Amino acid sequence: MTKPKRIAILTSGGDCPGLNAVIRAVTKKAIHEYGYEVIGIRDGYEGLLFNKNRRLDEADVSGILNLGGTILGTTNKANLYKYPVEEKGQTVYQDLSLQAIAHLHQLKIDCLVCVGGDGTLSVARQLSLQGVNVVGVPKTVDNDVQGTDITFGFDTAVHIAAEGVDRLHTTAESHHRLMLLEVMGRKAGWIALYAGVAGGGDVILIPEIPYDINKIAEYIKNRRKRGKKFTLLVVSEGVAPINGNVTIQRMVKDGVEPARLGGVSFLLGQDLEKLTGIETRNVVLGHLQRGGSPTAFDRILGTQLGAQAVDFIHQGFYGFMVGVKSNQFIKVPLSIMGQGSRLVPVDHPLIKDARALGTCFGD
Ligand code: F6P
Repeated sequence: MTKPKRIAILTSGGDCPGLNAVIRAVTKKAIHEYGYEVIGIRDGYEGLLFNKNRRLDEADVSGILNLGGTILGTTNKANLYKYPVEEKGQTVYQDLSLQAIAHLHQLKIDCLVCVGGDGTLSVARQLSLQGVNVVGVPKTVDNDVQGTDITFGFDTAVHIAAEGVDRLHTTAESHHRLMLLEVMGRKAGWIALYAGVAGGGDVILIPEIPYDINKIAEYIKNRRKRGKKFTLLVVSEGVAPINGNVTIQRMVKDGVEPARLGGVSFLLGQDLEKLTGIETRNVVLGHLQRGGSPTAFDRILGTQLGAQAVDFIHQGFYGFMVGVKSNQFIKVPLSIMGQGSRLVPVDHPLIKDARALGTCFGD
């Protein structure tokens, strides 16, 4: 009889509804079905570097399916290959991957499950190139991970954003205002597109389609002429005008991707108010899209991805993440992480349908 495996799991990068569903599924299936031991690494890759971990038993993951966030904690600042260290009063960046790998050896880990977005999975890929057995589980509200049709967290974010559009609708209509709702997504417009369509947004702006402000103003004025005195705009945080730049809210020290986007809806709203003469307000939905309980869809997807990850380990498929293609779970090599974000194709069927219904995409 072969010795049961000892596996570890970490969640890294920005949190996202459904992470606990994955932790629960991995832990329960690994113990229940295969008799493995499971170690939870705390605070993402930071916990690998500084040996912060705890054993996970079935009782530890009981009752967490509907919880937002991650019981293991996370960080989006611990790139093992470029880790900030203070030296003589200065911050220098070092490759500390060997320290992390040494801790995995000390813990006698047979395989590490890395749950995260493209930053986390890129680090997972590098670990795998250094000989660590790794299985990835893609996560992000942005839905922009290459190699998979869908990531858990996205459905919850869309649900919250669509509710935001609904709520703004009544107040926009009552006051005859322009109302802009800014949603997350970084370089990808998935949340804006889906929430915009779900909430019946009149204008949907996504980073993949640079906007022309004069065309948006024209569209709003035409609506007025037709008796629609208000307009709802759903704006992805990563949008930029034709030949213009994205709006950066702040730079984050030591982040894998330091620029944090935000604030475009305020600037755009001011300009539209000038061009149309209509009073304007903006709302930045922000981290409300990432907090709280996951939708039933995300709980199910997280559970399935976690369960698949354990099967990958059992079958010895390392260096892969679990992807979803045409409703099937597939093995996706982690090398796909070099290909950048998965953007919305500008000829996406949902864009075509929305255009046919009269929605403006700012072009
Ligand atoms: O990638 C997920 C995401 O929520 C983006 O949509 C957003 O731009 C970013 O993370 C915000 O990061 P932070 O939590 O560091 O503010």
